[in-house]
Amino acid sequence: MARSTRSTRTAPRKDGRSRTTVAPPPRATVPESRSRDISRLYPTKNDLAEETRVEVITLLNQRLAECIDLQTQCKQAHWNVKGPAFIGLHKLFDDVNEDVERYVDLIAERIVQLGGIAEGTVGAVEGRSTLPDYPLALSSGAEHVAALSDVLGAFGRAARIGIEEMNELKDAGSADLLTEVSRGVDKWLWFVEAHQQGS
Ligand SMILES: [Fe+2]
Repeated sequence: MARSTRSTRTAPRKDGRSRTTVAPPPRATVPESRSRDISRLYPTKNDLAEETRVEVITLLNQRLAECIDLQTQCKQAHWNVKGPAFIGLHKLFDDVNEDVERYVDLIAERIVQLGGIAEGTVGAVEGRSTLPDYPLALSSGAEHVAALSDVLGAFGRAARIGIEEMNELKDAGSADLLTEVSRGVDKWLWFVEAHQQGS
């Protein structure tokens, strides 16, 4: 489908001749209905009801997208922070990233354990994540602390919503997993936003 929407245009060259270039295809977002397709559920001896697993997988793929988004933002902060607090913040942001990467793995593997497909591509994340975008032009420590604490707070809220959803679906394992994630993100939010406090 994407190929049919590609357009061509003619670009002038230095030698006066023209060359045909092909515009990149527009990026398609992942339809939400895809995860609900029961035919994509792998058989498993896990005794959670099939309908429950379909719901849990859909909701966990939403949390997975947000967690991957959060991870990319931790690295963005780690790479680009500057200023007198550089070394402390550079290391702190990488420590946050390391734990968030672990949460990504926990959520993705829970999806697969329940017979689902972990949808962790950039395209899937782009179409799903509800987290705020990380501003690209930040440089000072204070700017990165403010931006990363914003996104940690937003993800913490999403994780808490996820715990409630898993409790409603009576999937104690997924609720426990998201509780671990939520507790960890709350800790890292404290570590990051403490830099804005006490002065
Ligand atoms: Fe690094």
